[in-house]
Amino acid sequence: MQKKDVIIIGAGAAGLMCGITAGQRGRSVAILDHANKVGKKILMSGGGRCNFTNYYAEPTNFLSHNQHFCKSALSRYTQWDFIALVEKHGIPYHEKKLGQLFCDNKAKDIVNMLLDECAQAGVEVRTECSILQVDKVDDGFIIQTSQGKWHCQSLVIATGGLSIPTMGATGFGYDIAKQFGLKLFPTYAALVPFTLTPKLLEQFDGLSGTSADALVSCNGQSFRENILFTHRGLSGPSILQISSYWQPGDAISINLFPDVDLYEHLKQLQQERPKAHINTVLAEQLTKKLADRLCEIWFADYVQKPLAELSNEILQVIAEQLQSWQLKPTGTEGYRTAEVTMGGLDTDEVSSKTFEAKKVTGLYFIGEVLDVTGHLGGFNFQWAWASGYAAGQYV
Ligand code: FDA
Repeated sequence: MQKKDVIIIGAGAAGLMCGITAGQRGRSVAILDHANKVGKKILMSGGGRCNFTNYYAEPTNFLSHNQHFCKSALSRYTQWDFIALVEKHGIPYHEKKLGQLFCDNKAKDIVNMLLDECAQAGVEVRTECSILQVDKVDDGFIIQTSQGKWHCQSLVIATGGLSIPTMGATGFGYDIAKQFGLKLFPTYAALVPFTLTPKLLEQFDGLSGTSADALVSCNGQSFRENILFTHRGLSGPSILQISSYWQPGDAISINLFPDVDLYEHLKQLQQERPKAHINTVLAEQLTKKLADRLCEIWFADYVQKPLAELSNEILQVIAEQLQSWQLKPTGTEGYRTAEVTMGGLDTDEVSSKTFEAKKVTGLYFIGEVLDVTGHLGGFNFQWAWASGYAAGQYV
């Protein structure tokens, strides 16, 4: 039997950070992962450059049934702490937009940094290690694995959510929670593209790859960034963001002209350029391809006429359609492409200070397996670092 003070299951962002913190405290630590490589999601994140944190990370960037739960950990390990670590390792990075920090080179820089820190803290990292069984015993836990039997005092579950099963995601963390009688919230794919009806897809045929700056709203939340037409429906940052607030059956509202009162703007253009056509003036903000197609779908009766011949009522209809386009997605692309999983372990089951399960001494849950989900923009990694660090101080 191999013995450690701490065993962490899952060598992703949260697990590695927890291992480093515990190792630095002098605890003997092993991190076990079934995948053939550590930090696969880090490697694929941010288009291969890892959006590792955000200058503006704060609790309001996170969704949870308990909005207060994340506050303590986020305040004890902030974006500035992670930035300091990145700088200590001399990793070049830049702000892309909206406070989002990316590596200049490759996401691998972040994984290498975490593995260097693990090595310095004496943390053992095992890959290709399948977990067969977990049992609670008087003095800790016994874990049966494909690499033998292990004993530990503290067991940390850092196996993440269900997104991208091909990258090693499993429901292991939820199964352990069930095994110990802990409450779970239903899980949903989030930060995920929407799918559309066959009719809409036919209307948008050929627009795949076209994007537009838009304000997208649903259930009282709005995000302004690009939307992107895809072969299956709609994606782009503002769509991914709003997907976390969308429920099946909801319509989303899209404002394709978020900076102006479009009705007033069109009336002004009517005065200034009476001979212009609606598709031409819309193409000054949208791409020509998108403006032409939307006019074909929505304004076929008006597009042939110059602006001078369009009544105020018609200008109002046009403005209304473009500024509060109501769209009902048929669904999402699901865990296959979702960046994160909403829901999961009820945060009331664990201490917000230590991340230890209130009912099971020595059992800890960190990272995405918990019911804490960040917005797009480096917030989910910040949650992984912060929760990993917090638990690492107590395991
Ligand atoms: P994570 O998923 O990182 O790690 C879990 C680990 O547990 C994995 O190594 C897995 O192999 C292992 N595991 C799972 N089941 C197991 C089992 N049964 N036995 C043993 N091991 C098991 N966030 C962000 O802030 N900025 C970004 O740029 C991106 N980009 C991004 C792109 C894509 C494509 C995805 C899918 C996700 C992102 N994210 C992101 C989200 C971010 O990757 C995610 O929130 C964190 O990785 C979660 O960290 P965890 O450590 O909780 O889980």
